[in-house]
Amino acid sequence: MSIVARRDESRVLDELTRSARGGQGGAVVVVGAAGMGTTALVDSALAGLDGWLVLRAAGSEFERDLPYSCLRQLCAPVVEQRAALPAVQRKALESVFGLGGGTTASPLVIGLAVLGLLHELARRRPVCCVVDDAQWADEGTRQVLAFVARRVGAERIAVVIATRAGCPGLSDLPHLPLSGLGDADARSLLRSTARPGLDDEVLDRIVAEAGGNPLALLEFGRDAGPLGLPVHRAHHRAGVAEALEAEFARRAKRLPSATRTSLSRTLRDVMSNGCAASAPTTSWSAEVAWHLGFAQ
Ligand SMILES: Nc1ncnc2c1ncn2[C@@H]1O[C@H](COP(=O)(O)OP(=O)(O)O)[C@@H](O)[C@H]1O
Ligand SMILES: [Mg+2]
Repeated sequence: MSIVARRDESRVLDELTRSARGGQGGAVVVVGAAGMGTTALVDSALAGLDGWLVLRAAGSEFERDLPYSCLRQLCAPVVEQRAALPAVQRKALESVFGLGGGTTASPLVIGLAVLGLLHELARRRPVCCVVDDAQWADEGTRQVLAFVARRVGAERIAVVIATRAGCPGLSDLPHLPLSGLGDADARSLLRSTARPGLDDEVLDRIVAEAGGNPLALLEFGRDAGPLGLPVHRAHHRAGVAEALEAEFARRAKRLPSATRTSLSRTLRDVMSNGCAASAPTTSWSAEVAWHLGFAQ
């Protein structure tokens, strides 16, 4: 996946993986506000990895109170390799996965077990552990992740964490903050995706309003009319995130009322249970996506 700008930031991630491949592992925490491109940057770095084992997980708002839910996701593809671990560590890992009869081990032993597992795996090929949206990862996972990230200096292991600012427990790891794109890059991203024929004044207004946030540039550019930004965004808001929220709320209002009601019901189910009561049909999902502007 090719991204606009972010050359210095990409270099930091390339350097991390280059060094880890050579046996000097490390960690980087990519930090950015919603829509700033943390996931896009990490994806772009991963796309360049050849011959690596990439383990990937993402924090979920709905599972942040479930101990080790994110760690389970991260280690699921390799848990079968646990036989190589010392018994104490194997049992600790099994306790996280609900295998075996023991109670959940302490974070320290689980950390050692994950480190041991990654160490075994890295003997065959370099390993990259990626945790996206770490601000929503459960606390146990964050503790283990930070524990592992601090101890991979002599391993073929890279740990890449993407998060919003202020994620607890990671402050001592190297941080890579993402700020807004500069005006020239913002304009080039906007031009590559916005409707052709928008005049320069309109583009300037979108660039100014988006503050370099790629998601805002893409979303604001999507429905800019020939006379400029839609009227509803002409007044100032507290920030880009609020403007984005308002934009999605406005699109939701355009849904036919029956679709809006079933969308509210689905969202309520997801917020309280972590999943929809019944699987949405493809045509329903396509209709919602079209109205909200997510359809390709
Ligand atoms: N540097 C970039 N160049 C092109 N598109 C980008 C760039 N950064 C982000 N995007 C796009 O902007 C949107 C939001 O980016 P994303 O990585 O999901 O943000 P975050 O994960 O920080 O919330 C996505 O559609 C992504 O593809
Ligand atoms: Mg993201």
